[in-house]
Amino acid sequence: MPPLEPMTSTEARATSAGTSREGRRTPLVAGNWKMHKRLAEARLLARQAADMAEELPGVEIMVAPPATALAAVAEVLEGSRVSVAAQNGHWAERGAFTGEIAMAMLAELAGAVIVGHSERRQHFGETDADVNRKVHAAFAAGLVPVLCLGEDEADRDAGRADEVVLAQLEAGAAGIATDEANRLVVAYEPVWAIGTGRACDPEEAARVCGLLRSALGRAFGAQAGAAGRMLYGGSVKPDNAAAYFQADDVDGALVGGASLDIESFRPIAAAAFRAG
Ligand code: PGA
Repeated sequence: MPPLEPMTSTEARATSAGTSREGRRTPLVAGNWKMHKRLAEARLLARQAADMAEELPGVEIMVAPPATALAAVAEVLEGSRVSVAAQNGHWAERGAFTGEIAMAMLAELAGAVIVGHSERRQHFGETDADVNRKVHAAFAAGLVPVLCLGEDEADRDAGRADEVVLAQLEAGAAGIATDEANRLVVAYEPVWAIGTGRACDPEEAARVCGLLRSALGRAFGAQAGAAGRMLYGGSVKPDNAAAYFQADDVDGALVGGASLDIESFRPIAAAAFRAG
């Protein structure tokens, strides 16, 4: 399994001012395949992602296939520059949890796990407390959690977006160790922008990512603020990706629909490469 590419502490110090392009956090472009791709399709897309990654040094490419395809995708990506993430995992180490998968089981196939995606919160009733348990379990198993958070439309309309995302971050990351906070990946994904084609204004996405970064720094120390990677997610497409990556506080993207075809995933990853 290719390791994730966290920043070295020297790099973290170099970017602690938060504005330097040099030595900035490794950009990360992650594809969330959701409930798509059967085995043959998954293997093909993984192979295409591996080839693509060779042309984009310095950008970390991650794919999150459905659980059924994790082993096949991990095998295809062995020795490649593409890292593998699971889309969900359970917090218990083992036990009578029919249909669930423990983080340690995922860690045999993946280096990261998406936690708290809004679809899990919306359709499967995941609470902030569940998300926090999953974050702890992920770190304990050696996985990097990609902690997803974001306000829904009603919160945004009511002017509560900042309050909501900060509360989600605080609850989701509660009790993690400083060195874990340094490795955490946070994905700001406004619910109203996911799968709707209504992407968040890039300046607003950058503002919220900056807000989350400052909160991480206040809670876990300056290095966590400087090292933690903030992604934007929600209708990222080839024609809007570059606008997000221009901002210093946006370290990449979590891409859903546009990650399902290499022809739309490639220009997004290439935009991160050009911005880096
Ligand atoms: P989308 O999904 O790019 O299809 O909006 C993003 C996500 O859910 O991570």
